[in-house]
Amino acid sequence: MDAIYPSKDFVKGANIKDPAIYSRASENWQEYWEEFAKELHWFVPWEKFFDDSKAPYYRFFVGGKINASYNCIDRHLPEKRNVASIIWEGENEENKTLTYYDLYREVVKLSDALKQIGVSKGSKVAIYMPVIPETIIAMLACARVGATHIVIFEGYSAKAMAFRLKDSGSEFLITADGYYRRGKIHNLKERVDKALKKYKNIKGVIIVERIKDGLNNDIKEGRDYLYHELLKNAKTKVEAEILDSNHPLFIMYTSGAVAEPKGIIHSTGGYLVHVYATSKIVLDLKENDILWCTANLGWITGHSYVVYGPLAIGSTVFIYEGAPDYPDKHRTFEMIEKYGITVFYTVPTLIRLLQRSERIDNYDLSSLRLLGSVGEPIEPETWIWFYKKVGKEKCPIVDTWWQTETGGHVIAPIPSLTPLKPGSVTKALPGMEVDIVDESGNRVKPYRLGNLVIKRPFPGFMLGFYGDPRNYVDLYWKKYGKRVFFTSDLAYFDEDGYIWIMGRSDDVLNISGHRISLVEIEQAVMEIDGVKECAAIELPDKIKGGAIAIFVSGDATPEEIESKLESSLGRFARPRLIVFLPELPKSGGKVFKRAISDAILKKEVSPITSNPEIVKKISENVKPESSGVIVIL
Ligand code: WT7
Repeated sequence: MDAIYPSKDFVKGANIKDPAIYSRASENWQEYWEEFAKELHWFVPWEKFFDDSKAPYYRFFVGGKINASYNCIDRHLPEKRNVASIIWEGENEENKTLTYYDLYREVVKLSDALKQIGVSKGSKVAIYMPVIPETIIAMLACARVGATHIVIFEGYSAKAMAFRLKDSGSEFLITADGYYRRGKIHNLKERVDKALKKYKNIKGVIIVERIKDGLNNDIKEGRDYLYHELLKNAKTKVEAEILDSNHPLFIMYTSGAVAEPKGIIHSTGGYLVHVYATSKIVLDLKENDILWCTANLGWITGHSYVVYGPLAIGSTVFIYEGAPDYPDKHRTFEMIEKYGITVFYTVPTLIRLLQRSERIDNYDLSSLRLLGSVGEPIEPETWIWFYKKVGKEKCPIVDTWWQTETGGHVIAPIPSLTPLKPGSVTKALPGMEVDIVDESGNRVKPYRLGNLVIKRPFPGFMLGFYGDPRNYVDLYWKKYGKRVFFTSDLAYFDEDGYIWIMGRSDDVLNISGHRISLVEIEQAVMEIDGVKECAAIELPDKIKGGAIAIFVSGDATPEEIESKLESSLGRFARPRLIVFLPELPKSGGKVFKRAISDAILKKEVSPITSNPEIVKKISENVKPESSGVIVIL
């Protein structure tokens, strides 16, 4: 298929128009980043742009003093007092708009309330909340007082939350009584109380009353505070703390090849510069845009492209509480039309779901001017549908590749400059150096699969792992050395040097944008009494991209396995398929997972397994699209 070029109209209004941005950035890398940094507010400018003396721990803007909350709010007040900062729609059609001034007032009051209960610069504050404006207010209040926030996705179970609280050493928690999802009320506070029985170091809990009546949650005297009561008497003036550029703004937990999720630490200055710059370059955001990035605030995309990037620009962000296909699959189009969304940034999983809407033509989507995709590879057919039906062939699509570790975009088109190829993430952004290499580190030929690596650090790159320096080096900097970041993604170049992402090389899957480790799943299942062996693999899924399939031997019921995964991780980790077997395929005495996936996907019986009869039965009984429970005797 021929490359797709942006329209003249789009180019005319774009933030970036000059193709020389690429050569300028590679010739003068420092100046390129510093120009963006200078557009932000610094209390004290940096002394040193880049410090690699402790590689692979890289530091940027050393000596600079900055505050992210100040840059996202105070900096805009003179011009934007009455302009919407956040527009929120609840699942049950409630809605709320906060101007920049409203946001300022709320953040300042919560900052004071946080101080009143003992939070100070350097404190760690966990945030376990649904998608409501108070979640963003909580993040920005932490940033204002210099506390590091740890946002925990509200779909996580009490156990998964307790792990994150403990690992991060959180001292305070901001939560809500509950939230609505798919017409149901979910009780969050109940899960909090359960987690806090396991982890006892939380000194104060602030509770936003989202549901109010009917939840009857206990308030623990001396530990629990109601948000609205604390704010009633709070001061309306709290200066933003003057923070070091490399002060940790947040910790974000993510899954990797190892069993336990790891806490990735992001800086304040470098991170903000990166997400601000890429919001401008890739999302082409301007002050008068209204952006809908559908990511949950509990993931890195929610941090970078709902909160910090767009608000640093001064745009309006739209957030939505519920599932975007509830009460029906037209909900997304309804929201785009109702709020006049101009930039729509989402995941292929949702796009595939929208493709099933037969009513798309009934909605006026003409406010859209740019579309974005993130989180998983998008098939060319889905891309083309998105381009034609949602974008009406006038909106460029930016397919953005990045990771929790990178903080912001790394590979993506510049929408006014880069010819697009459906399904490709195109090329590295200016100032970025990526490559696809073989096992010895040499660049692969076009159309040969290799490991995607990053060869030059950039300001948004993580500071490290919380409390686990050895793993940081082992996981990312061992394979190709301290200067080449190993991403765990497989990719290839085409003849034009365009990059095509093929998925992960490790045991991590992306289900509807949730990054889950197969090892984590296997360990949870192994904890069930009676389970002898367990292997979790990924099967293709038409909507979600991937689905979990679990193979077990021993004694357990499907219900036990499902409820174990729900309590260890959360509802999103429920498998699509559970297969019971007398024993699992093995090689050299160890469970041989590759034999299972080859048996299902390629219908091949691996010759090196010690029990080929089992592998044969798997290949006969399990299909790539199988679901439910299969028992093989
Ligand atoms: C993994 C990172 C990027 C923020 C959201 C997810 C996959 C990410 C793309 C893309 C194909 C992608 C990679 C990566 N991924 N973007 N545009 N095309 N795959 O962040 O949870 O840290 O996951 O998501 O496999 O390693 P994350």
